[in-house]
Amino acid sequence: MNATGPGPLGAPDPGTTRPGAAGLELTGLSKSFPAAAGERLVLDAVSLSCAPGSFTALIGPSGCGKSTLLRLVAGLERPSGGQIGIGGLSPDQMRTSGRLGIAFQDAALLPWRSVVDNVALPLEVLGKRQRGQDAHVQELVRLVGLSGYEKARPRQLSGGMRQRVAIARALVTRPDMLLLDEPFGALDQILRRAMNLELQRIWMADRPTTLLVTHGIDEAVFLADEVVVLGANPGRIVARIPIDLPRPRTPEMIYSVYFQTLQGQISRALEQGTGR
Ligand SMILES: Nc1ncnc2c1ncn2[C@@H]1O[C@H](COP(=O)(O)OP(=O)(O)OP(=O)(O)O)[C@@H](O)[C@H]1O
Ligand SMILES: [Mg+2]
Repeated sequence: MNATGPGPLGAPDPGTTRPGAAGLELTGLSKSFPAAAGERLVLDAVSLSCAPGSFTALIGPSGCGKSTLLRLVAGLERPSGGQIGIGGLSPDQMRTSGRLGIAFQDAALLPWRSVVDNVALPLEVLGKRQRGQDAHVQELVRLVGLSGYEKARPRQLSGGMRQRVAIARALVTRPDMLLLDEPFGALDQILRRAMNLELQRIWMADRPTTLLVTHGIDEAVFLADEVVVLGANPGRIVARIPIDLPRPRTPEMIYSVYFQTLQGQISRALEQGTGR
């Protein structure tokens, strides 16, 4: 966690990379799971490097290993081969020091806790929840559009609202590395666009190194510095497409010829990766 520099709620500062940001280095990463007939190779020799403060989108067919890759980077699974470095630290070191924020594909909220108490959970785990800090928690709840639901329990929320709680929880420690697994999958298109803009604003203000898993080609192009396309069986990188659009990205850019060309490139790479 970085105590200096602009906070996630401060003014966007497009020119700055925060001093604490950690680059991600994946080297020959592979993962197998036990299967009926021996082992099943899910990720095969994935090598990827993401600069400190960069935004990378991962896109690929269902089952190609995107969530597995995120869980490996978060230290929640062990690699079968290869290495993971995050600013020279291991995933475990990053996670246990609160420098890594993750929003899972299923929101994974604690059902007996209110919205605010779910968002604040990582601070409690780190022993850093203080009276004064709840203002920050409340502001994150507002940012993800859940004002008025602070005391609600997860069962009282829609699927999209639960996902937004999970995003706020991932951001609450101001992580250096942010892992988002299809965070907007359950949102309608209009809300998704609004949340994309909000995520860009938060990211530009705080510059965590970010890995976003998405099935939305437009979302990937809109948000990322680079789109990494994965193929399936086994999961591997089939294309890396740099997105050379200025920041902040605006909704009008979606209709530009360049944006559409990029979408076409990603779409073709996805088709090749699935062999369809
Ligand atoms: N703990 C596990 N044990 C056994 N197999 C697993 C485990 N976790 C994932 N897998 C398998 O690994 C493969 C990749 O799963 P993963 O969840 O990473 O896919 P994904 O790319 O995130 O898919 P989706 O887009 O549907 O979310 C799947 O075939 C899945 O069955
Ligand atoms: Mg997944």
